[in-house]
Amino acid sequence: MASYDVIIIGSGPGGYVCAIRCAQLGLKTAVVEGRETLGGTCLNVGCIPSKALLHATHMLHEAEHNFTEMGLKGKSPSVDWTQMMAYKDKTIGQNTQGIEYLFKKNKIDWLKGWGSIPEAGKVKVGNDTHEAKHIIIASGSDVASLPGVEIDEDTVVSSTGALSLKKPPKKLVVIGAGIIGLELGSVYQRLGAEVTVIEYLDAITPGMDGEVQKGFQKLLKKQGMTFVMGAAVQGVETLKTKAKVTYKLRKDDSEHVLDADTVLVATGRKPYTDGLGLESLGVEMTDRGQVKTDANFATNVPGVYAIGDAITGPMLAHKAEDDGMALAETLAGQAGHVDYNLVPGVIYTHPEVANVGQTEEQLKEAGRAYKVGKFSFMGNGRAKANFAGDGFVKILADKETDRILGCHIIGPAAGDLIHEVCVAMEFGAAAEDLARTSHAHPTYSEAVREAALACGDGPIHS
Ligand code: NAI
Repeated sequence: MASYDVIIIGSGPGGYVCAIRCAQLGLKTAVVEGRETLGGTCLNVGCIPSKALLHATHMLHEAEHNFTEMGLKGKSPSVDWTQMMAYKDKTIGQNTQGIEYLFKKNKIDWLKGWGSIPEAGKVKVGNDTHEAKHIIIASGSDVASLPGVEIDEDTVVSSTGALSLKKPPKKLVVIGAGIIGLELGSVYQRLGAEVTVIEYLDAITPGMDGEVQKGFQKLLKKQGMTFVMGAAVQGVETLKTKAKVTYKLRKDDSEHVLDADTVLVATGRKPYTDGLGLESLGVEMTDRGQVKTDANFATNVPGVYAIGDAITGPMLAHKAEDDGMALAETLAGQAGHVDYNLVPGVIYTHPEVANVGQTEEQLKEAGRAYKVGKFSFMGNGRAKANFAGDGFVKILADKETDRILGCHIIGPAAGDLIHEVCVAMEFGAAAEDLARTSHAHPTYSEAVREAALACGDGPIHS
């Protein structure tokens, strides 16, 4: 039996970042992980592998659509699926081994196996029981099931199976127009699949700014994706190598059937806390199955904390990291803090979509007086040169004070551009502060400055 200051259960972005921070702050730390490799869902079967496939297939798209115009002639590349999978796996390996290196460097022990908490202050891993002053649940999330749909990770897949298909499908039906459905739908659409997305609501990407939802859907349709909106999937029947997806249109209750080689279920995720022994420990849960925590990530059981997807808030890797760092700092006697109003969201399609702060709909609902500054990437020289003129930057600012309240971007590198607005908002900046900041020419970031200018006397290039 070993004794620690902190034992963290789960080595995803929440758990491993928390562990490194704890170790940096002088706490003796261990992480329990039952997978063969560190990094959790994000590194092994989520963010990282999906970005590898998005990158590879975007390169293919560029070669097929834009090379000739740039004077790059020759045969379009063909797809070697085995090699693409190998590239994806290599990317995963580099990242998971990187975490192993960081654990060694920071003297963090990896307790291999699945952990449970038999009592406060104790963590059981296999036959060993370890002691810890603080126990942190960072066990993440799992795919939420859909009634009538059995995921076999072969024909009917979750995001995990969709990252390791035997071959790209010819016909893919995606259930759910959220981030997972649209990112992975884009991958296979670029590889030539006929992609149909079935969505229960009337708009894609729930919770996003309405204008972005509409603009983004229009772009995806232009790329060849088909959408069935306002439709509830009733069930999926798996035949030998094919599947039949039955859905009902909400407007008239009519029933329809779609054939597919592969069906991707992307209707959300749920907290994963199975096997931790939380019930017998008496840890309070929310009615949505999340571990209930206070503002300092403490559960009702003294010495037991939780972070990331297992608790409330957006299920995002970077939110889990922020939770992890704040908790480590609090446990080390510092003042850990996360500003949940300023956690950015990014969809890594092409073009990318990114947002931070309030949507126009939220401001309207709150009765807040606001102004909108918008700028199209068509007016950005760099974007035009790079075939990336689709999309816009939209900044929402307080009508009276000019303080930035939100930013919504569809466009090239949107996921990187959003961060200058995050920093500006952290400092309580006005749109004028962004507008008066020099932005190098020619960069995509000029579109952010132009949107800020549009909140005042007007942009230059439109
Ligand atoms: P989601 O919650 O983002 O979207 C699920 C969609 O499925 C919703 O639009 C919902 O209306 C629809 N839906 C639910 N039941 C349905 C039914 N029976 N028929 C038709 N449509 C139905 O969930 P998603 O995309 O699975 O992602 C899960 C989590 O992972 C999210 O919290 C997301 O933020 C996170 N994630 C984040 C990424 C990123 O930051 N780039 C990438 C991948 C996932």
